[in-house]
Amino acid sequence: MRRAICPGSFDPVTVGHLDLAERAAAIFDEVVVCVMVNGEKRTMFTPRQRLEMVQAAVEHLPNVRAALWEGLLADFARREGARALVKGARGGTDFDWEYQMAQINRDLWPALDTVILPARAEHLHISSTMVRDMLRHGQRLEPYVPAGALEALRMIQEGKKEDGK
Ligand code: PNS
Repeated sequence: MRRAICPGSFDPVTVGHLDLAERAAAIFDEVVVCVMVNGEKRTMFTPRQRLEMVQAAVEHLPNVRAALWEGLLADFARREGARALVKGARGGTDFDWEYQMAQINRDLWPALDTVILPARAEHLHISSTMVRDMLRHGQRLEPYVPAGALEALRMIQEGKKEDGK
């Protein structure tokens, strides 16, 4: 069983993330999309909300599941018995960053390798940062957020309104 991890903040998950998970699912037997919790990073959505959106986004993929992890990614991969991390790169800047992360993760667990997949051309301009901005300005998110996740996001927003947050 070849298992891979697709890690990220997913604040929120985008169509670019889903494309990566789908492509990873075509290469590996099983893929775990892991929502990482970074105490230092301020996020728009809580870890559980990010997990709910990722779960909804990958629901249609039989060999993909979502998980939440607070700590080192290499530790999560080892716990899952996954020897590959799958990351996307939209260009040179992403690649340089992922290259560094790949070295660090291999230092932490030498059996762990990183597969970097080039983003599709139509997704090059899409990021969670851009989606958060569109959300703040009340713009439609259909082209940027997977349909299942959009439904989960709407429910999260309804909950916020009811809580008066
Ligand atoms: O979606 P993002 O924010 O680009 O994802 C970055 C993420 C969460 C994959 C990265 O920050 C990460 O792997 N964090 C977990 C902590 C860790 O293992 N760091 C590497 C060694 S210091």
